[in-house]
Amino acid sequence: MSDKHALIVGASRGIGLGLTERFLERGWSVTATQRVGSGGNLAHAADRVGDRLRLEHVDINDTAQVSALRERLDGARFDLVLVNAGITHDRWETVAEVSTATFERLMLTNALSPMRFVEQFRDLVTPHGVLAVTSSGQGSITNNTRVTGWEIYRASKSALNQLMRSFAARHADDPRTLLLLAPGWVRTEMGGPDAGLSVEASTSGLADVVETFSGRSGLHYVDHRGATVPW
Ligand SMILES: NC(=O)c1ccc[n+]([C@@H]2O[C@H](COP(=O)([O-])OP(=O)(O)OC[C@H]3O[C@@H](n4cnc5c(N)ncnc54)[C@H](OP(=O)(O)O)[C@@H]3O)[C@@H](O)[C@H]2O)c1
Repeated sequence: MSDKHALIVGASRGIGLGLTERFLERGWSVTATQRVGSGGNLAHAADRVGDRLRLEHVDINDTAQVSALRERLDGARFDLVLVNAGITHDRWETVAEVSTATFERLMLTNALSPMRFVEQFRDLVTPHGVLAVTSSGQGSITNNTRVTGWEIYRASKSALNQLMRSFAARHADDPRTLLLLAPGWVRTEMGGPDAGLSVEASTSGLADVVETFSGRSGLHYVDHRGATVPW
């Protein structure tokens, strides 16, 4: 059994739930969060592994809830803090069509709130641990050369990447590993049924990435196979 401990935020379903299961399989303890009222499957995982899985509640857009969680976890030490929560929008909605409210909701949930969380929880990560955010290959500006939709989602993940780079520059002497994870296109509620990867395949790869990059300082933008994604 490992003595490692992860905090995974946005773990009610999809990739977050898959990552929770992968780390539990590898013997880690996991503190996994969902939103109040979220109808996910975390409770079933808790039934199977007992006290290695602790459930918490937080909506990353609610600063009071985030601060309350930080207080509840004060004194805890994590080998991994991963902010996985994210949302998308109608695939073919362009910047010409999107409402201001949708644009703001994506930027808040996918860029500002994850980075606020990173700022507040950074000091709970062990010196050789990993501070990670689920980004996306869709956040790559270099690879954005074809019309594939999800324009606003892409922009929100690019903003997340840029903010993480600023964070990394501010903490250049910090030994902790910083990861922007690109899961591939995965069959979840967000990814849809046509996506090429199962949750298990993507999250097995992402768990390997976390374990492989642990102890390597600096910021790495990597996919589920461990390959660097061009910015
Ligand atoms: N699926 C893909 O192909 C793909 C590809 C690249 C990157 N990603 C990224 O991977 C991450 C997970 O995606 P997924 O495919 O697993 O999506 P999903 O099945 O839609 O799950 C999204 C998760 O985020 C949580 N969440 C959303 N807004 C939140 C908030 N304000 N506060 C706390 N939790 C919140 C959801 O909780 P509730 O259950 O409470 O709604 C749920 O647990 C996202 O960051 C996404 O952008 C996905």
